[in-house]
Amino acid sequence: MTDKVAKLVIGDQTHEFPVLSGTVGPDVLDIRSLYAKTGMFTYDPGFTSTAACDSAITYIDGDKGELLYRGYPIEQLAEKSNYLEVCYLLLYGELPTKTQFAEFEKLVTRHTMVHEQMHYFYRGFRRDAHPMAIMTGVVGALSAFYHDSTDINDPQQREIASIRMIAKMPTIAAMAYKYSVGQPFVYPKNDLDYASNFLHMCFSVPAEDYKVDPRIARAMDLIFTLHADHEQNASTSTVRLSGSSDANPFACVAAGVACLWGPAHGGANEAALNMLREIGTVDRIPEFIARAKDKNDPFRLMGFGHRVYKNFDPRAKVMQQTAKEVLSILGVENNPTLQVAQELERIALEDQYFIDRKLYPNVDFYSGVILDAIGFPTSMFTVLFAVARTVGWISQWKEMIGDPQKKIGRPRQLYNGSPNRDYAPLESR
Ligand code: ACO
Repeated sequence: MTDKVAKLVIGDQTHEFPVLSGTVGPDVLDIRSLYAKTGMFTYDPGFTSTAACDSAITYIDGDKGELLYRGYPIEQLAEKSNYLEVCYLLLYGELPTKTQFAEFEKLVTRHTMVHEQMHYFYRGFRRDAHPMAIMTGVVGALSAFYHDSTDINDPQQREIASIRMIAKMPTIAAMAYKYSVGQPFVYPKNDLDYASNFLHMCFSVPAEDYKVDPRIARAMDLIFTLHADHEQNASTSTVRLSGSSDANPFACVAAGVACLWGPAHGGANEAALNMLREIGTVDRIPEFIARAKDKNDPFRLMGFGHRVYKNFDPRAKVMQQTAKEVLSILGVENNPTLQVAQELERIALEDQYFIDRKLYPNVDFYSGVILDAIGFPTSMFTVLFAVARTVGWISQWKEMIGDPQKKIGRPRQLYNGSPNRDYAPLESR
């Protein structure tokens, strides 16, 4: 709370509202008493001006292009940390000591297997189902398998549910992939680190040895780190809204997975790679830039623009560098998709349309190129995003459940439908 007060004048009435300050970032107007004082609601479709909660997890300054997890800049975490350490940081607020990290890593590693019965659940899906459709179903089904961690009022159960989800999500995702390509499920291996284990579950087969390249595992770990949390985005808000009704954490995360699937959100990396492939060659870029600018054409440059970043997405910078490294490790640095991506970025950043609207490449623009080079089909891209974002969802969910101010989420509306009218019987219509 600050001493600042905002005054709202409606007709001859003046109403005062407190102004709240966080540690950094814009102040917010506390309008909780607005309806009681004025009989009015605020109107803010898409919540572009609404802070829906207090949070101490992630901070974004969209104008500066800054992203902090618990205060630590994403660039430092990307360079010096690893995904599991970032998970600990997001969940508990501080970087772990050596002992804390070792215990956490062991705990997560020992929870990576899924209930054997879940294998049958997969077999109910068509083989050509989109893996995100399978993810939505299977993650929701976790609440049917782990009854001992669904009591949200028990902090111990909340803790176990959190660890289970971080640990099992790669297994669930890898199984969705294996199912779609008709290969046997691969069990997790506890002597591998988080990212290597995931690559192993996706790409090894019983018939031959599979050695994970540590450099590719590091790139995978980096992709997980960059996607771990992103403040109150659409899927996280979905998880919070679902959790506000005291729904169990598995159900809430399943709702997050469903929301993430959309091409305006997590589905954008799949859409971005499809677009780069459709463009195909550098000489066709101007045609697509012209389409993106044409108001009569619904086409948008996928992987460009962001609701919050109106400067460069700091994750995109790291991702661009990693894309070059991974393609060079794999010996495919002349990959035409990467060439189209680099040239498209160059041309768009010099184009007045994109400059005026502050449209820059976002994290999804390059992640698809990397995942494609590693060997993932495009349909798996959003699944990998869901694996990485699980810790963000669960950290935000835990924070909300522990917040004494928690209320069930219930937005209001500006009603534009018919006013009260009488029902007319069928024969008189
Ligand atoms: N290509 C062309 N024009 C664009 C693009 C784009 N990718 N994005 C925005 N614009 C234009 C809009 O047409 C609009 O122009 P106008 O002012 O002349 O009408 C202006 O830029 C502002 O666009 P809005 O849609 O109002 O911006 P908003 O903040 O609501 O949208 C969004 C953000 C949804 C990410 C949008 O930029 C988009 O659709 N991008 C492509 C999809 C994408 O990459 N999504 C990934 C987001 S990141 C993530 O989820 C991890």
